Amino acid sequence: MKKAIIIGASSGIGYELAVQLADLGYQLGLMARREERLTELSDRLPGQHFVQVTDLINADAARTQLAALIEQMGDVELIVVNSGVGTGEKSLDWTIESEMIDVNVRGFTAMSMDAMNYFIQRGGGHLVGVSSIAAHFSAGLSLTYNATKAFVSSYLNGMRSRAYRSRLPITITTIEPGFIDTPMLESKPLGTVPVAKAVAQIVKAIQDKKDHAYITRRWAIIAGLFYILPKWMIRKFV
Ligand SMILES: NC(=O)c1ccc[n+]([C@@H]2O[C@H](COP(=O)([O-])OP(=O)(O)OC[C@H]3O[C@@H](n4cnc5c(N)ncnc54)[C@H](OP(=O)(O)O)[C@@H]3O)[C@@H](O)[C@H]2O)c1
Repeated sequence: MKKAIIIGASSGIGYELAVQLADLGYQLGLMARREERLTELSDRLPGQHFVQVTDLINADAARTQLAALIEQMGDVELIVVNSGVGTGEKSLDWTIESEMIDVNVRGFTAMSMDAMNYFIQRGGGHLVGVSSIAAHFSAGLSLTYNATKAFVSSYLNGMRSRAYRSRLPITITTIEPGFIDTPMLESKPLGTVPVAKAVAQIVKAIQDKKDHAYITRRWAIIAGLFYILPKWMIRKFV
């Protein structure tokens, strides 16, 4: 049986990914803070799954919880680090900014690093990290969020080089979504896509063992524009 862990499975992209991977026959380890959401998800999925509560704000405890879940599941070939927080940054508020750094950078790094070390010891595996299109530009109204996602994409690029140098069959997939209709979005900007459609493309990228995927695909064009348009023009909008 194929086994996967999703970190950040209680809502949005992670929740829908659990639904679609379970349909493909995966046994899942579901991690996030909200135990009742994870239990409800586990109960509705076909097959038997595992729930492990974790709060990435406490990265040391999260590392222990990830190791315990892997131990409990026996053998895990796919780990998806999806947890993330993002909110409007109209004011520069340390409570908000520090949570984004703790979850999107510290927590993300702890989970990805431990997943990689586990796959090296296991002799292979697949690490998927959920970044964002925001990794490609700086924005005055989401400056810390964008910076954390630039970290995520850069870190995963480095991890991919490391996987290559290990000569082991380890795949690193970077997922960069645009606007996906989940609770994280405070409004529904033009171009927002349903979460089921977005996750179907994420599942395809996982199955194809892609290095990188824009979700949905058309965001590749928009990402490219951020490198071509003059900075003064970008500043007018974000
Ligand atoms: N929606 C979009 O348009 C969009 C675009 C680009 C990138 N993304 C990225 O996609 C990923 C998933 O976001 P989403 O849109 O699906 O948002 P979401 O519905 O708010 O889901 C966020 C997930 O992260 C988990 N999480 C948040 N804080 C956590 C913490 N301290 N410890 C552990 N888990 C935590 C949440 O679980 P608990 O609250 O239960 O802990 C939840 O499962 C994020 O990394 C986000 O940055 C989303």
